[in-house]
Amino acid sequence: MSKSSRWDSKDNESENLPIYQHKARLIRAVKGSTFLVVTGETGSGKTTQLPQYLHQAGFWKDGKIGITQPRRVAAITVAQRVAQEMQCALGREVGYQVRFDDCTSQDTVVKYMTDGCLLREILADPGLSQYSVVILDEVHERSLNTDILLGLLKKTFSNPDKSTKSRSGPLRVVVMSATLETDKLSAFLGSCPVFTIPGRTFPVTCKFGFAVGPKDTESSSYVKEVVKVALDVHTSEKAGDILVFLTGQSEIERACDMLYEKAESIDYRYDVEDQTVEGLLILPLYGSMPTDQQRQIFQAPPPGIRKCVVATNIAATSLTINGIKYIVDSGFVKQLNHNSRVGMDILEVVPISKSEAQQRAGRAGRTSAGKCFRIYTKEFWEKCMPEYTVPEIQRTSLTAVILTLKCLGVHDVIRFPYLDRPEERFILEALKQLYQCDAIDRRGRVTPLGELMVEFPLHPGLTRALLKAAALGCEDLLLPVAAMLSVENIFIRPGHPERQKEADKRHRQLAAMAGSNNDFGTLLSVFQRCKTSENPSSWCKDNWVHWRALKSAFSVETQLREILLRLQQKRDFPTETFNGDKSELFRRCLCSGYFTNVARRSVGKVFCTMDGHGSMVHIHPSSSLFEQEAELDWVIFHDVMVTSRVYIRTVCPIRYEWVKDLLPKLHEVDVYELSSVARQEVTEEEVAKWETREAAKRPTEVSVEEVI
Ligand code: CDP
Ligand code: MG
Repeated sequence: MSKSSRWDSKDNESENLPIYQHKARLIRAVKGSTFLVVTGETGSGKTTQLPQYLHQAGFWKDGKIGITQPRRVAAITVAQRVAQEMQCALGREVGYQVRFDDCTSQDTVVKYMTDGCLLREILADPGLSQYSVVILDEVHERSLNTDILLGLLKKTFSNPDKSTKSRSGPLRVVVMSATLETDKLSAFLGSCPVFTIPGRTFPVTCKFGFAVGPKDTESSSYVKEVVKVALDVHTSEKAGDILVFLTGQSEIERACDMLYEKAESIDYRYDVEDQTVEGLLILPLYGSMPTDQQRQIFQAPPPGIRKCVVATNIAATSLTINGIKYIVDSGFVKQLNHNSRVGMDILEVVPISKSEAQQRAGRAGRTSAGKCFRIYTKEFWEKCMPEYTVPEIQRTSLTAVILTLKCLGVHDVIRFPYLDRPEERFILEALKQLYQCDAIDRRGRVTPLGELMVEFPLHPGLTRALLKAAALGCEDLLLPVAAMLSVENIFIRPGHPERQKEADKRHRQLAAMAGSNNDFGTLLSVFQRCKTSENPSSWCKDNWVHWRALKSAFSVETQLREILLRLQQKRDFPTETFNGDKSELFRRCLCSGYFTNVARRSVGKVFCTMDGHGSMVHIHPSSSLFEQEAELDWVIFHDVMVTSRVYIRTVCPIRYEWVKDLLPKLHEVDVYELSSVARQEVTEEEVAKWETREAAKRPTEVSVEEVI
């Protein structure tokens, strides 16, 4: 095929999208008002086409056209696609930016990015002076950062006269959503106009299964069942591609392995109903997959071959795959939820909402009638699935965003314009955490430390530890750790039992070689050994370590180092000294960030957390300390995992003396006292009054027993 005919076919493709007929009216609508809500079925062309229309209309002359996505994979793959359609190299006119990966240049005028990235840009430039249009996409997903952006843009640009002087012309804000909440969005944005792109959809028949009832939540059962159903579809249904919805990377890989194995034994002469079907192409799709593999997902399979994509929720609305006729729905999703039992955010597998299930089913009806096979029972639908998904802002920790808001001068974080208000106790909890790690003071104002912390796209505790290390001149110990904790899991755990034993043995050796007897130390050692080895990729292979993850960790480390260097050049960067051995120094730095995650041995193998929740926890079997619990009394940990038990992961033994002075801070402030601070900056007198009262209440020396 010649180059020009290839592009011709691309053009036809985009001209066939429902959005195409509305091009001129859409451009006029964007020009006509500060805020505009655009809605249309998934796959109608909103994400890939609207930015191109605005580009053609010349918006780029006044500033960049920015489009946010809640998911990094969507930002990357969509930018790739649009660069291809606009016939430019990715990173030139069309680029993307996601955390730790900036693929833009001076020429970039159409910029796809994650919502978190735009939030960071607002920190540096609240008037968004480089943009002529900002498009918040996938607003119906209600991600935490998109919700905050909505509030911020409303606050800043609702009043065109007042809105920031740094801009030459007006900013246009487009809010795109695939579902119905458009009235609510329009009302929120001062009754702004709504543009609806009429969609064409075809009927999808849904069937409930028998496998998952109200009591089944074990992942092994639903993985097996989706594999079985997908194979049934493959052998008994007419040609057409299959999309399977599962929960996460490991479940998807497991399902794909099972599918490969079973598909091998199909005899296409006898076993399949539709004789035009001659093979099965199995493709996984999840967030941390390499992008070149993701691209395959969108390509049409060879003739006679049925494509079966096994995906996370990413394929529900963010990415549209053409040719899907059958859906297999597991009924579950992996979701970050605040767990009040342990007082932390935890990734959990939970039933999807009914609206989510309808969205999933709808993916089969884009181009012709389709079928959706739900593996769960009608009873599960009725009893276990909520009507709607709760917005992230109402179910996860707000610590990082509240610090961002405060740094943007939004002091009244309770009366901030939220589309859906988080519970006040979540806001207060975030303020408490920020106060505990010295990011804000008692008046609720951001401290110099807080101003440094907000610059790092990391968990506040980890940032605090890193900054402590930097102050002590030993950032080389913490930067690699922070990088390793920011990438996907680096240790490979193969499914095959023999190979799993071999991998576990290797990982134990790695921990022993680190010599530090703590999991953070192992991460540091793996990073350093791999980096200095002659052939890093084969080193990884020998040690059952993901080379791809380590490569990202190297790049993340460099980027964190750059941020740190930039901040260190500011004169007010703190410095401290310490006399002691390196291992102690390392662990003390960790303590300064992770003192909120301290656990003390209670009885036998059970530990008890010190944060006021007093949860009973166990060390996770993946930890190098799993078998050495006998010698441990006090530990800190990076995160927790909840199954039938609460496990702590990435663990480090510490001495009580190192956290002794920090722990009282966990109990010092009553969250309700913070509520006045949350609403506004309190006056000096009020603080003085409060402090006297606090001092009277508080014993001067807090003993361990009291802390427990
Ligand atoms: O945003 P919306 O859901 O309205 O649609 P879109 O993402 O712009 O998708 C429009 C079309 O582009 C669909 O047919 C997708 O399959 C296609 N597309 C693609 O082929 N490759 C991508 N990386 C992204 C979209
Ligand atoms: Mg879209």
